Amino acid sequence: MAKDNIQHKIDDLRQQLRRHSYLYYVLDDPEISDSEYDRLYRELEQLEKEHPELITSDSPTQRVGATPLKSFSQVQHLMPMLSLDNVFSENELQAFYKRIQDRLGTDNTVEFAVEPKLDGLAVSIVYENGELVRAATRGDGTTGEDITQNIRTLHSVPLRLLGDDFPDVLEVRGEVFMPKAGFDELNRLAREKGEKTFVNPRNAAAGSLRQLDPGITAKRPLAMYCYGAGIVEGYDLPGKHSEILQQIKRWGFPVCSESKVVEGVQGCVEFYETLLNNRDRLAYDIDGVVYKVNQIALQNKLGFVARAPRWAIAHKFPAQEEITTILDVDFQVGRTGALTPVARLEPVFVGGVTVSNATLHNMDEVRRKDIHIGDKVIVRRAGDVIPEVARVVMSLRSSDVRQIHLPKQCPVCGSDVEQTEGEAVARCSGGLFCKAQRTEAIKHYASRKAMDIDGLGDKLVEQLVEAGLINTVADLYRLNVGEVAALERMGEKSASNLIEAITVSLQPTLARFIYALGIREVGETTALNLANAFESLDALIKSDEESLQQVPDVGPVVAQHVVKFFSQQHNVDVIKQLLDAGIRFKQRAVSAVVNEQLNGKTFVITGTLHSMTRDQAKDKIQAAGAKVSSSISAKTDYLLAGEKAGSKLSKAEQLGVKVINEQQLEVLLQ
Ligand code: IVH
Repeated sequence: MAKDNIQHKIDDLRQQLRRHSYLYYVLDDPEISDSEYDRLYRELEQLEKEHPELITSDSPTQRVGATPLKSFSQVQHLMPMLSLDNVFSENELQAFYKRIQDRLGTDNTVEFAVEPKLDGLAVSIVYENGELVRAATRGDGTTGEDITQNIRTLHSVPLRLLGDDFPDVLEVRGEVFMPKAGFDELNRLAREKGEKTFVNPRNAAAGSLRQLDPGITAKRPLAMYCYGAGIVEGYDLPGKHSEILQQIKRWGFPVCSESKVVEGVQGCVEFYETLLNNRDRLAYDIDGVVYKVNQIALQNKLGFVARAPRWAIAHKFPAQEEITTILDVDFQVGRTGALTPVARLEPVFVGGVTVSNATLHNMDEVRRKDIHIGDKVIVRRAGDVIPEVARVVMSLRSSDVRQIHLPKQCPVCGSDVEQTEGEAVARCSGGLFCKAQRTEAIKHYASRKAMDIDGLGDKLVEQLVEAGLINTVADLYRLNVGEVAALERMGEKSASNLIEAITVSLQPTLARFIYALGIREVGETTALNLANAFESLDALIKSDEESLQQVPDVGPVVAQHVVKFFSQQHNVDVIKQLLDAGIRFKQRAVSAVVNEQLNGKTFVITGTLHSMTRDQAKDKIQAAGAKVSSSISAKTDYLLAGEKAGSKLSKAEQLGVKVINEQQLEVLLQ
């Protein structure tokens, strides 16, 4: 190829790679597969290898520099990087709003650009003539550290601005953070290698960005959202903050898609509530929201106080982490006899509720985190998940803290506690003799995905066991309205509804029934596979480890658990009683005639369905001999998409997976 042609080819490849990066990272709307991207990338790499003189620093291949730094150098910010004042309540927000109206001398409703407050670190990135020249941390707001090499490794940050209409000098500001999934994976790997884990995504992001070796930063799952501009020369930015963000996005930067424009305090509060409720569904941590007066002219009128603008404020969410003291540790016994250490805490307000217990998971975890009774600890409650002890504050440890010991006897029934070599979990050996295990086993049996007994919730099971009305799941079918109605908070009506629901449960599918038995490690899918393979309960009971291991997803451990379960006389007795009570298995609609078209196919379900629930759709699909998976890949055969189908739908389209609706599913099932 002639030199000109090579240059042309290289330019073209770079252009394509930049565009596809942008589609992928910024618009979240890729046009090509990862492997196609890799192919283009390798082609460019090869050409650059053959013609090193044509390599430029803004080439997509030049993200990771080879030489680690000795130390970070200091950078003077061209314009100070300010911080934000906080409000913690609607009253304080009202006061902020009033101050703004007063200063502007207006009663008019003020328009705000509202954004999540990302929990990462602020960075400044400067472009000259469209090329990334410098990136810096916020530091003290005036001087930061030069992290250019590290920022270049973030794929979502363009090395060159897109398009050809951009400022001579552009400073973009935003937050670098680590998405939750990446953080969990990073810590999982660290744990596996016996290395130190990061305390939270924020610390992980900070630690990753402050690496002298950009090769390390490149391996960390960092992301960035831009939330403003700093110095701009040779260009007139639009007159509203929201429009500036749109322009920044067009130049190639990721901007948070939750951001929007609202009117007045009311609009701000609604945004706050929405995000607070959706906080856990976001892929990244946020610690509040930020309201910014949208009109730049008004921002300029309002100006600054000390280090923060008067035109913006952060509205903080309740903290998800608080410090408190471990008063004592108890052990709870679960359905399978697993003993879980639970910390009794000095009550503390965290994540919007008062927390006085937190799980310690198991003794390995207690040792790993070096938790003692009397320790000051950080309790974390994120969303609806069970509060947990995140870590000990070692600097506050006193000399009289006490060790936590695994009891030798079950705290509920007194049977011996066993711990198998290499297993983190210790178990009560009492089996169904243990009241705790009985209660938990009955709760599981009645639960939605098992026998789905309407109205028989955890509390009621506890009441029934406490009152001595039931000892095993078979006893449920002997209950009568009178004795149930006599329980506290029950009446004739709810008692007879319960008995009715129990009677309805006499006709489960075999798969649900197997799952409901609560055999260790036999989840929904395994139960279904077992039901499909053995077709009758009798055959399953008589199976041995060898035949069990022929079943998909069943390995030696599960096979052992199944055999062990049916070898125990008390389990067989209960099953016999259940059959005597009238349990009969529903024949799967198409069990004998497996649907030819669907047998062995893989489905993914997304969005809101209308003619059935997702569980019902899943049952139907599985009954036809197909599998239901939770994540979409090239191996998926069908995506069943309901209303408001989101990213899975776009991914399916991208991968060429067949997308069907509920009606089309019914047709396939016929
Ligand atoms: S604007 C003049 N917007 O919060 C306003 N900051 O407390 C300067 N932050 O240092 C910042 N999300 O690290 C802004 N959407 C957002 C933000 C945000 C997170 C951080 C940023 C800043 C700190 C100020």
